[in-house]
Amino acid sequence: MSGPDGIGRRAFLAALGAAGAAVAGAAALLREDRDPGAGRAFPVQGAGTLRERAAARGLLYGAAIDSSQLRDAGFAALFARECGVLVPGTELKWLALRPAPGSYDFRGADALLGFAGAAGLQVRGHTLVWHQALPAWFAPTSASGAERMLREHVETVAGRYAGRLHSWDVVNEVVEPAHGRADALRDSPWLRLLGPGYIATAFHLAAAADPKARLVLNENWLELDHPDSERKRRAVLRLLDRLVAASVPVHALGVQCHLRAERAAGGPGRLRAFLGEVAALGLEILVTELDVADAALPADVAVRDRAVAAVYEDYLAAVLDERAVTGVVTWGLSDRYTWLTGHAPHPAGVPVRPLPFDRELRPKPAWNALARAFAAAPRR
Ligand code: XIL
Repeated sequence: MSGPDGIGRRAFLAALGAAGAAVAGAAALLREDRDPGAGRAFPVQGAGTLRERAAARGLLYGAAIDSSQLRDAGFAALFARECGVLVPGTELKWLALRPAPGSYDFRGADALLGFAGAAGLQVRGHTLVWHQALPAWFAPTSASGAERMLREHVETVAGRYAGRLHSWDVVNEVVEPAHGRADALRDSPWLRLLGPGYIATAFHLAAAADPKARLVLNENWLELDHPDSERKRRAVLRLLDRLVAASVPVHALGVQCHLRAERAAGGPGRLRAFLGEVAALGLEILVTELDVADAALPADVAVRDRAVAAVYEDYLAAVLDERAVTGVVTWGLSDRYTWLTGHAPHPAGVPVRPLPFDRELRPKPAWNALARAFAAAPRR
């Protein structure tokens, strides 16, 4: 437990170097300086799930999930109620699907598609080409070998679910200006083996295997008012421009939106302008992996929840202002299951709270923030 004066806050203050009599003063300081959601409230009007509130504006809302979570009946029921789209968080990646070179394991993905079908949820595919989550045996050494593997994988995986998916993240995180190439592409195994043309190849293969799915280029680090994010936005725009000009079947940009509460202070102004530029290319836009990490916030639950909710509302207000944005996916639904537990744990040892529902499946201010952002969004 860590109420305002509980272990979490004490640990935080200790980390700041506050001691003895200084604690009260430090706590006051902390309240002013480290309570970015101070004064914010998130009232919502009317009834309805996030799915319904998004749909009322012509938007799709959903979340990422792993098939193991389906065994948690309370969580699965909540997921089916609140979500209009399901995204397998790990089970359509190479690492999960490809235990050995010639074999495929579709059990996890099939379970999720079965659940989605029964619950009337759409499904997004994530992801066909990524530099991470590749199995240990993945070590192609020639361009022809790599192309053969890519072709077989896309034909088999996208082919298996053809006609059933809302969209596919065909490529994930392929732009990385910090790697120093003139085209700003990431130095990945795919690039090294196949050259920059692998991106277009992947889209053409996906279009052939599943002509109905929207084909998405999914990217991280597009969100901040920071020079690194700006470089990334320029590079992504140049890549999309090239792909569209070459008639590559790319239909949408996926903006991951893994946000951190403390870094979001600059606000989403430049992201909003960028989304307008993407829309001007004739592309749709999806928010694909939204969550708000709270590891740099005080342990105090009320402070964290307010700050996280404020980031959700402010970002979505800017993003949903762009009518080309047609959907929002959070990277998880409840704090009970979030990758940030391992990826960005709270230094005070308290459970992280980055998602719309808490660990007891109760809606949090972040849920209200999403509901408010949907209500304020222009209709599609
Ligand atoms: C994450 C999953 O949520 C974790 O369970 C896994 O251990 C690592 O990958 N960007 C992405 C997602 O595109 O695929 C990542 O998902 C989170 C960052």
